[in-house]
Amino acid sequence: MSGNTQQLVLLGSGAREHALAWKLRQDGATVHVLPGNAGIAGSVPGISATDFPAIKSFCEAHGSTLIVVGPEAPLAAGVADYFLGSGIRVFGPRRQAATLESSKVWSKDFMRRHGIATARAWSYRSDQFAEAQAQAEALGGQVVVKYDGLAAGKGVYVCSSVAEATAALTELRELHEGWFSFLLEEKLTGPEVSLIGLTDGNRIRLLAPAQDHKQLLAGDQGPNTGGMGAYCPVPFLDDNALAAIRQDIIDPTLRGLQAEPFDFVGFLYFGVMLTPQGPKLLEYNVRLGDPEAEVLLPALESSLLELIEATLDGSLAQTITRQRPGAFVGVVLASGGYPAAQFPTGFPIHGIGQQTKGTHVFVGGVQPGQQPGELLTASGRVAVVVAHGPDLPTAVQLAYAEAEKVNFQDKYVRPDIGQRPAPLLETKAY
Ligand code: AMP
Ligand code: GLY
Repeated sequence: MSGNTQQLVLLGSGAREHALAWKLRQDGATVHVLPGNAGIAGSVPGISATDFPAIKSFCEAHGSTLIVVGPEAPLAAGVADYFLGSGIRVFGPRRQAATLESSKVWSKDFMRRHGIATARAWSYRSDQFAEAQAQAEALGGQVVVKYDGLAAGKGVYVCSSVAEATAALTELRELHEGWFSFLLEEKLTGPEVSLIGLTDGNRIRLLAPAQDHKQLLAGDQGPNTGGMGAYCPVPFLDDNALAAIRQDIIDPTLRGLQAEPFDFVGFLYFGVMLTPQGPKLLEYNVRLGDPEAEVLLPALESSLLELIEATLDGSLAQTITRQRPGAFVGVVLASGGYPAAQFPTGFPIHGIGQQTKGTHVFVGGVQPGQQPGELLTASGRVAVVVAHGPDLPTAVQLAYAEAEKVNFQDKYVRPDIGQRPAPLLETKAY
């Protein structure tokens, strides 16, 4: 291991990166966040997460030999390829492996090639809308339409009727110009869980199972967002369900990664739906989830820095991941109007720093104000307030009490994070 006080470069600028910076500092690293944001100590606002030459100069000037990547964009742009052989190690997959997230068609082909449990799907090019329409009708409109590319969470349409499927296909055609591909999937039902691990392609060390709340409004209503809150662990995910996920999804994924002509090193995220027919993989992400990371990192008792180094060294077998007992809940403080294309921002944020010990405010969509230390809202998801409790209901209560202390004009908080009714799972199928 290369010591625990190394200079580390972290790429990204959201609340997930704030949580990563906090955790890696706990582990003894000195963390520079490129570009970071006005609320994260050690941010370097002049260097974007995809400006590889500038990142390299920064690493050389600071003696940094490790880059941890938060978001998908630098990975899809090839940050791990750029630094190959440079003496600077990147924790994150190379561009080709990042296609598991950046292309839904490629990712679905990978799942098929390696026998991974997933929804049936049909892929089309942008000159095949008539075929896609016919297939959507054959499935009675119970389909999910997915644009093939990074779409910042806006490329997926979950449809419940032929009319909705037609509207989704029409919007897709209008939004994207030129040549593109898309996927039509059968619509599945069931609760979703996010399973995220660190993997070197041979082994994986899983963090706690988490659940995201993607829709804006209580009761999973309203438009999809980047995530309105998360919690971990997931009480209804019992050992049987976890064993089924390992057998049908995670183990074949690892076998697939070994069989493919690329190495995978980094975080791997499995978006899983627990359907009555067993667990099905909805998607891979090649990074930590956001807002899942904001609860998973406080919940992780083990050193993340040691886990990252062990993954890079191929010595994951010698590690264990210990989780803190109890439950962790993260509530997103959003700007009113989000996720519409436009809404007012620039409002002063009050109350950060008044939290009870053991709770966190991880900030994302913020900008500096005129006064030193002043933060203003800058985008949709402003901050995530995270609390820890002995059980989920207590952690929920604490998280909302802490969220009350942080205020700005037009603040919106979804009121039911961590309070989904326990799903009636067909456990027999698992
Ligand atoms: P994805 O980006 O592929 O994970 O899709 C975003 C969200 O759309 C998922 O978290 C699910 O809520 C929903 N979704 C995706 N695929 C399906 C599917 N086959 N059936 C039902 N819902 C889906
Ligand atoms: N929370 C889902 C994601 O990060 O994609």
